[in-house]
Amino acid sequence: MRRTLIAGNWKMNGSLSSLETLINGIKEGLADVKNADMAVCPPAIYIPRVSELIGDASIGLGSQNICDQESGAFTGELAPSMLKEFNCNYAIIGHSERRSLYAESDELVARRFAMAVKSGITPLFCIGETLDEREAGVTQDVVSRQLDAVINTQGIEALAQCVIAYEPVWAIGTGKTASPEQAQAVHAFIRGKLAALNTSVADKVQILYGGSMNAANAAELLSQPDIDGGLIGGASLKAVDFLAIGKAA
Ligand code: 13P
Repeated sequence: MRRTLIAGNWKMNGSLSSLETLINGIKEGLADVKNADMAVCPPAIYIPRVSELIGDASIGLGSQNICDQESGAFTGELAPSMLKEFNCNYAIIGHSERRSLYAESDELVARRFAMAVKSGITPLFCIGETLDEREAGVTQDVVSRQLDAVINTQGIEALAQCVIAYEPVWAIGTGKTASPEQAQAVHAFIRGKLAALNTSVADKVQILYGGSMNAANAAELLSQPDIDGGLIGGASLKAVDFLAIGKAA
């Protein structure tokens, strides 16, 4: 049985004080979330403070990035060992905003993935098609190509050590959520593709949905058989909304 994971991607939002209020609010309501694990991914500069505020509460902590190298002359990057010093157990990799706005290739995404796994940090591995790609009928080709970048370099077993997030680009920050049927269809395709290579990896891997998931639509999305949680942007920035998604699980 796969456990539900609700992870908040705070992106480049908030301030020291607003994010303190947010994490304290999540901590206060956490006892009411019975059937999901919760995690937050703050902007890097706030990771130390959020880590401190989380303390021993059971909230996972993730980075929004991780370097594909261990240390050295890589200006602006975050070493896995640094993330581990602040108890980060997740790192978002391959988010569409990194792929499209900062030109991250499938190859770079795969290298970041490899470094996270090697360091004991669970990749939140994002894949998904643009609106043009969906309308052209190539959604399955796109997510396959993105998965293959990791499978072909690290083997299918590596996927057992990550969480996949299917995030259709057209649903991110647009208020246009994929319908539960649309999302389930792609999740089932992803799991089927993995199952063709290794059934135990396919059974184990959590596949989250991301893209305008909120308190109102979470229950229906999360009730789909292959949707194992959510990667939440906008709705993770208010404790009540984020907790409501956790409670919907
Ligand atoms: P929204 O929930 O704001 O659409 O963002 C989703 C996302 O990109 C999470 O990584």
